[in-house]
Amino acid sequence: MAVAWTGVMLAHAGVAQTTGSLDAWNRDARAKFAAQRFGIFVHWGIYSTYAQGEWYLQGGGGRIDEAAYARAKDGFYPSKFDARAWVALFKEAGAKYLTITTRHHDGFSLWPTQADDGYNIAQTPFRRDVVGELAAACTNAGLQINFYYSLMDWHRKDYPAGRASKSVLGEQVGDYASYRKFMLAQIGELIDRYRPGNIWFDGEWDHAQFNARTGQWERTLDWKFDEIYDFIHDRKTLVANNNHQPIRAKEDIQLFERDLPGDHADLGFSRHQPVTNDRPVEQCDVLQHQVWGWKLDERKFRTAEEVVAMIARSAARGANMLMNVGPDGSGALPPQCVETLKGVGRWFARNGESIYGTEGAGVGLAKEIVSTRKGDVLYVHFLDPKATRFAFKYEGEIRSARCLATGAPVQVERTPSGVAVLTIARETGDDFDYVVEVR
Ligand code: GLC
Repeated sequence: MAVAWTGVMLAHAGVAQTTGSLDAWNRDARAKFAAQRFGIFVHWGIYSTYAQGEWYLQGGGGRIDEAAYARAKDGFYPSKFDARAWVALFKEAGAKYLTITTRHHDGFSLWPTQADDGYNIAQTPFRRDVVGELAAACTNAGLQINFYYSLMDWHRKDYPAGRASKSVLGEQVGDYASYRKFMLAQIGELIDRYRPGNIWFDGEWDHAQFNARTGQWERTLDWKFDEIYDFIHDRKTLVANNNHQPIRAKEDIQLFERDLPGDHADLGFSRHQPVTNDRPVEQCDVLQHQVWGWKLDERKFRTAEEVVAMIARSAARGANMLMNVGPDGSGALPPQCVETLKGVGRWFARNGESIYGTEGAGVGLAKEIVSTRKGDVLYVHFLDPKATRFAFKYEGEIRSARCLATGAPVQVERTPSGVAVLTIARETGDDFDYVVEVR
């Protein structure tokens, strides 16, 4: 007989459900995305050559102006860039998709776009189509490619400057109709040429500010998102927007940047609204602490253990984890990133089924122990080496409990009141995230 267990079910713990009127392609694409559970985010562009993070132009403390910064394109020759090697490593790590910054806030495009004035990869000595090579490598390796695309732009004359771009653009009024036309032309190229799973917007907050006094979002630009989103949906592609706001009707994925609801409960706040919608959820975070684009300094990189725990904790809340890496200006991934990703891959090779295609099980949402489920199978993740016992309420019969990676039986005690207690005995060589499969 099947096991059923009780716990606080989260509103978003499931794979996305339909909202009735969704087209079949859209429903399927959302479900496919949610089942993937783990992706790699890559921040890479001409900023990587400065090794100061992706905000260097704006955050460079006035050390560099836009014209000087843009000249980096004339020397951009990342001789170590190898799309197939990147994608092979991401696949080895266990990722099911790659989200690449096709065009970040600096406005430089990583594909030979015909929609702009020449601020793109085709105008560098490198000339190769980075986005195209990555898309082909993903297709060959069976990974999905997705496209980060910045709404904010620190380069173009038609972009209306907002609060985060004025330090570069000054009080530039711009011409939003012209800028929107440009964006649609680029997005059309990206989708028609490379077939991404989603367009992942960022930078809307350049024109939105939360007024704590009134409790309202104040907008300084009408982006006309309906038109942009319809354009993308007409091309059977999902829409995501990293705007730190409650989701709009036409957005397909609920994003969280370095946060999931509840993650900051210990601090007494969560930066974001609780998830009360039916969308797949994706949390993004960084492998090199604090920065997305490559930064040469002493900051630490996360270990494989930390990344696995973040993935498990996301999955337990019904969310995908999009883990970012920032290759350097030569196209090489920092050795610490490679080491971490290989370690994550070793864990996935033994425990992947406890993540892919699962839902949050709603029991054990502490930092030390979380759980996922697939149908009747419960996966309990022991994330802390000191945690060895876990109790949960269940109904029906528990037929087996075993270590997922090794098959070793795990002790289960059952109380008359319907509580099961798992006790694990870790052996040398067991995984940091020790997963017990309960059937
Ligand atoms: C923030 C940053 C941006 C980064 C993004 C990733 O919006 O401005 O640089 O790309 O986070 O989520």
